[in-house]
Amino acid sequence: MSDVADKKTILIVDDTPENIDVLRGLLEADYKVKVALEGNRALKIANSSNPPDLILLDIMMPGLSGYDVCEQLKDNPLTRRIPVIFVTAMGEVDDESKGFALGAVDYMTKPVSPPIVHARVRTHLALYDQALQLEDTVQQRTKELNDTRMEIIRRLGRAAEYKDNETGMHVIRMSLYSKILARAAGLDEEQAELLLNAAPMHDVGKIGIADHILSKPGSLNDEEWAVMRKHPEFGAEIIGDNASSILRMARIVALAHHEKWDGSGYPLGLAGEDIPLAARIVAIADVFDALTTVRPYKQAWSVDEAVADLQKEAGSHFDPQLVSKFVTVLPEILKVKASYVETAH
Ligand SMILES: [Fe+2]
Ligand SMILES: [Fe+2]
Repeated sequence: MSDVADKKTILIVDDTPENIDVLRGLLEADYKVKVALEGNRALKIANSSNPPDLILLDIMMPGLSGYDVCEQLKDNPLTRRIPVIFVTAMGEVDDESKGFALGAVDYMTKPVSPPIVHARVRTHLALYDQALQLEDTVQQRTKELNDTRMEIIRRLGRAAEYKDNETGMHVIRMSLYSKILARAAGLDEEQAELLLNAAPMHDVGKIGIADHILSKPGSLNDEEWAVMRKHPEFGAEIIGDNASSILRMARIVALAHHEKWDGSGYPLGLAGEDIPLAARIVAIADVFDALTTVRPYKQAWSVDEAVADLQKEAGSHFDPQLVSKFVTVLPEILKVKASYVETAH
């Protein structure tokens, strides 16, 4: 037989010590055996840091009956999945469906037959093991699926950068700035994380803009601007209408990151709090990074100059409250800026 450490643990619950002795005698060669003479003790053991892998449960007990114990086990997420087999005296149970309804996996009758005890215990332990493994696999696959989805979302953001004169670092920095500002604006950790992952797609719509406009060295004429200003709508179309929370947020950000607080932005000319908060946050993060880094058409501004510009534009371009929050978290922002420095390319 395998090591003691590998042995499964069986909890025997019965108010009659002789019954416990019989079952223990049958099982202790192959399993670790714990015993409880009454229901509350059984629940305590089941809830311990070292819970049993299977419970053999007597029904008629003083105090909590086996049914009560089973019900409480099944009500508790920590103990819900431990298989319970009722062990009852002949004729003691007139309603076997009750036990099954409470979530028991099987019945055995006393006096117990050794081969039946061995077979049932082995079968239900194996089923339980399989269920746990399946759950592990599902969890692992779900994580893989999420990771893949996140990776595709990141790559979509990168695709837009290849068309644009921006760099991968821009997207990383502005997403991290967005997350910091989101937290400062009172979004919870989950929403802030969502924005971190959605922000890289803010300019994905630039995929739909002709190269001669995107990479034109001089300034754009009116007609070219009119095309350029379509990138938020292109972005929303590329991302599509999706049930996933991250893609929904990405769509909002792509569509509204050029709206301005005073209503003079595009594409919809939304004003104030009609502009979704996520987009107001990204607008600040995006512009701050554009200002403080070199672009083909401009030098990098100093942090002071960039902050002064955000403050000047507070109330016209930007949400003024968010600009003040940005200033409060500036030390954190600058840490990110220092960690993701542009490499020449
Ligand atoms: Fe944009
Ligand atoms: Fe950007």
